[in-house]
Amino acid sequence: MKNIPWSIPSLDNKERKAILNVFDSKWLSQGPKTKELEKKISKEIGGKYVIMTNNGTSSLICSLLSHGIGPGDEVIVPSLTFVATVNSILAVGAKPILVDNNPNTFNTEIKFIKKKLTKKTKAILPVDISGISIDIDEFRDFTLKNNLILIEDAAEAIGGEYKNRKIGSFGHTTIFSFHMAKVITGIEGGCIITNNKKISDSAKLIRSHGEVDKYNSKIFGLNFRISDIHSTIILEQLKKIKKFLIHRNRLAKIYQQELSDFNFQEIPDFVTMHPYMLFAILISPKKRDKVNYFLNKHGIDTRICWPPIHRQTFHSKLFKKEKFIGADSVYSQIINLPMGNGLSEEQITYVSKMIKKAIKQF
Ligand SMILES: Cc1ncc(COP(=O)(O)O)c(C=O)c1O
Repeated sequence: MKNIPWSIPSLDNKERKAILNVFDSKWLSQGPKTKELEKKISKEIGGKYVIMTNNGTSSLICSLLSHGIGPGDEVIVPSLTFVATVNSILAVGAKPILVDNNPNTFNTEIKFIKKKLTKKTKAILPVDISGISIDIDEFRDFTLKNNLILIEDAAEAIGGEYKNRKIGSFGHTTIFSFHMAKVITGIEGGCIITNNKKISDSAKLIRSHGEVDKYNSKIFGLNFRISDIHSTIILEQLKKIKKFLIHRNRLAKIYQQELSDFNFQEIPDFVTMHPYMLFAILISPKKRDKVNYFLNKHGIDTRICWPPIHRQTFHSKLFKKEKFIGADSVYSQIINLPMGNGLSEEQITYVSKMIKKAIKQF
């Protein structure tokens, strides 16, 4: 079997036709298709207000600005995350405060956060890594009791469920990304979902230079608008989300059965739907790089996950030297395996076979 990509979306004639329809309608920038999409996401997920933006990073920045977070504020964030989570805090002039991740579930927990609270703490920005939900009840209770803002980075988690309720439906500000490797894609795209009308109204203004009407900026904002071309692709993808979730869960089951001797990212019981944006396997640090190299050499695009923030070249200079044992433990063992709507069961079986072959050699 030849070259297996790390992720491949499923885009077909439906998306092609939808793009051409928008093209022919002559309204290509943010317009009716984006409005239609915002309504559809709200209906599908169950959150009241949806604000589309041009990517997940801008959804994060727009959320932070909408909540009035800025210079002088501290925002608590896990060290193991994609840089976008922390960069969005830096972009609004607030201070990211790093906390550790659970080495088994990869997500952060309140027990790590409690130790980092100060008078300046304004918000908590946890991440649903690979699409596995944080313990939402615990985070909501804790932030409510401590008068803190909760913004959930669910960039990887659309379609995911916590205790049989969709991520994004709980009321606090949550963001999703629609980048290429995500469960549904618009090539680029992001959205904010919230039950708070004030936050939604601010986010809508901030998305477009704070303009209340043409060339009248009421508040500070930037250009986070998405085009109707991207929104129409997401609309088509949204129609297929159930099918994609079933497919991804089927692929994950093959990995779990074929590689039953290996350790995976642990799925807590409160996760009632794992969207499997990513599928991670843990291999002892002594063997991990050799196995990854072997797979890449045989045309299988496996990837080591992002280094935790405290190990990033740029970010490491911003933080005092601290230990994040859980984040480092994940980083030293993880390999993200191929996963995507466009991958077949045969491809996943083949990847599993090659992993078993590799592990025997090293
Ligand atoms: C955890 C996390 N946060 C934020 C983002 C940013 O999303 P985008 O790439 O759409 O800007 C990503 C995307 O890859 C992500 O994985």
